[in-house]
Amino acid sequence: VTLYGVFTNHSCMGVATRCLLLELLDVSVSELLQGHSMWLVQHCARDILEALAFLHREGYVHADLKPRNILWSADDECFKLIDFGLSFKEGNQDVKYIQTDGYRAPEAELQNSLAQAGVEVEGDSGCTAAVDLWSLGIILLEMFSGIKLKDTLRSQEWKDNSAAIIDHIFASNSLVCPAIPVYHLRDLIKSMLLNNPKQRCTAETALLSPFFSIPFAPHIEDLVLLPSPVLRLLNLIDDSHLHNEDEYEDILEDMKEECQKYGSVVSLLIPKENPGKGQVFVEYANSSDSKEAQRLLTGRTFDGKFVVATFYPLSAYKRGYLYQTVQ
Ligand SMILES: *[C@@H]1O[C@H](CO)[C@@H](O)[C@H](O)[C@H]1NC(C)=O
Ligand SMILES: *[C@@H]1O[C@H](CO)[C@@H](O)[C@H](O)[C@H]1NC(C)=O
Repeated sequence: VTLYGVFTNHSCMGVATRCLLLELLDVSVSELLQGHSMWLVQHCARDILEALAFLHREGYVHADLKPRNILWSADDECFKLIDFGLSFKEGNQDVKYIQTDGYRAPEAELQNSLAQAGVEVEGDSGCTAAVDLWSLGIILLEMFSGIKLKDTLRSQEWKDNSAAIIDHIFASNSLVCPAIPVYHLRDLIKSMLLNNPKQRCTAETALLSPFFSIPFAPHIEDLVLLPSPVLRLLNLIDDSHLHNEDEYEDILEDMKEECQKYGSVVSLLIPKENPGKGQVFVEYANSSDSKEAQRLLTGRTFDGKFVVATFYPLSAYKRGYLYQTVQ
């Protein structure tokens, strides 16, 4: 997360508070729990693994990975990891109780209960970076299944055979979309959820999983929920207007004028053919402009048609890549 500055705020009571000024981020994964597409799961997994690979290489453990600590950055178009309140340097764990219920690795669970019982543990018994991989495994399993697993994790069935439960979750969900090869994700999650931290995959090795080579397309819900500087307007232009050059030029002008009302437009594209035929792509200077435009344009009528305004990934737009999105 971008750090803009650090300052000390002096209250009138004489209390000094150190403050960090951070970039403002968007929705968190906990607000996205319903209906995660594979595109979204893959995006989140890759972004967070890259963050962890960096962090772990520097020798730090995040130690509090959970859906509320993973936020979308509209301008950088990726998920970011926040809240380093429990983080520690590996080999020098100066935080006694780490991680949050439901996302706590077995070794951290054990360490917490020993600390609670007042047992002094000697020597080299601190938790390692592997606790972060465990939490991410749970988060991805929750995103994939759409269910909270806190109670499942406490059950005896999970303790006896977690792999069988993971298999079951995947078997019951793949019936919905049999064409998608979900077993790569299943195997990746399994390698993150091994009880022995030494056997768990690292962030570096997890990034090599074949799961990350599958090209998924976003669902329309993803594009509504995850802001970006590019707006896509649907249900606006009749195909019949696209093939008359004068009419097409007029539409471009009208659209530009309309969209400029909400913010500074950098570029505008209306494909004449599929993919994206008749859709209006508007690139704004930044995501605060596009969010304002989305808010004000959604539900408006033009020529008696209701506008549907979703966002669109800036990187794909810049490459000229127009997804055939799943409707
Ligand atoms: C700074 O302190 C004042 C109280 O003196 C408080 O009202 C304000 O919210 C604080 N600002 C920040 C950024 O903490
Ligand atoms: C977004 O871009 C507009 C136009 O360039 C600018 O006025 C505005 O300050 C920018 N907002 C942010 C948050 O950068």
